[in-house]
Amino acid sequence: MQRGTSEVMALTSAYPTPTAGETMAASGYHGIVLDRLAKQAVEILDVEESCIFARDQADPNMAIVAAAHGADEAIVGKRVPVGLEHSRAGHGALTELSWGGDVQGALSVGSARSRARLSSTDASLLEAFAPTVGAAISHAYSRADTHPNMRGHIAGLVAALDERDGYTAKHSEEVVATSRTLGLALGLDRAALAELEVASLLHDIGKILVPDSILKKRGSLTPDEFAMMAVHPARGAEILARVPGLEVVATIVRYHHERWDGMGYPDGLSGARIPLASRIIAVCDSYNAMTSDRPYRSAMSEADALTELHMHAGWQFDPAVVYAADEAFQQEVAA
Ligand SMILES: [Fe+2]
Repeated sequence: MQRGTSEVMALTSAYPTPTAGETMAASGYHGIVLDRLAKQAVEILDVEESCIFARDQADPNMAIVAAAHGADEAIVGKRVPVGLEHSRAGHGALTELSWGGDVQGALSVGSARSRARLSSTDASLLEAFAPTVGAAISHAYSRADTHPNMRGHIAGLVAALDERDGYTAKHSEEVVATSRTLGLALGLDRAALAELEVASLLHDIGKILVPDSILKKRGSLTPDEFAMMAVHPARGAEILARVPGLEVVATIVRYHHERWDGMGYPDGLSGARIPLASRIIAVCDSYNAMTSDRPYRSAMSEADALTELHMHAGWQFDPAVVYAADEAFQQEVAA
């Protein structure tokens, strides 16, 4: 069964026309994906600037600034000898970007306010983020045509999830609708809204890799079983990063079980460093689960579910997102 794709805007049409940043061999679309990944790097690592360098295919000793965020945009498109990306960006931390066993480029991040090396936790975050950016550069160079294929990829993944876990597929479809309501209430632009919708639809795609004995278990999971279930955001992100055009969505999916207080998984990211779309999905995921009938309990009322969200605001959930949910969902109930 094909669910949900009619509700999901094609990211290709939602992204704005490229301006600066459309450089290297990237098509306009891939250039925009790299721009948005550079922005995600700044937010997740809580730095001021990021630069994505792509290996120059005509000269493997050179790298091109493919995207930058928070930095002087004039550096986008400039070439720099491989190994000297650090000096071009003037940043404190740099990691190599690889995909499919090949080095694709480098990602540097830094802040004028702090040129100190990243903490070990932030260095781990950078390492976890790097493969997704490497995938985006690889897709750009292979000129993978996103436009006709993306809907097919999304539909195929939704069908795979539906076959493994019909409840989760149906639940995800409902999360798309509530996420969209909340995204609109929070003023997301068209591109961010499209990313949010696709991420909502596929946020649990990593569950297709969780064994049935755990996925379909009734009752609570043992600590070992929970640990196996808890890999689904990271595995989901890996699946989505392979799809040209869904690299930004992959990052959103990776962080949908993070908590505002930093006690979530897989990376323990906290506060505004968690992508806003991931924070929205966290709230909508819980709201939709609480207001749905399950074999072992009846659905909670919308009012009780909102009260429950408020009880966890500032701990599990972003308080601003919960406040927006309060307004947006109550308006929907009243309409
Ligand atoms: Fe999940």
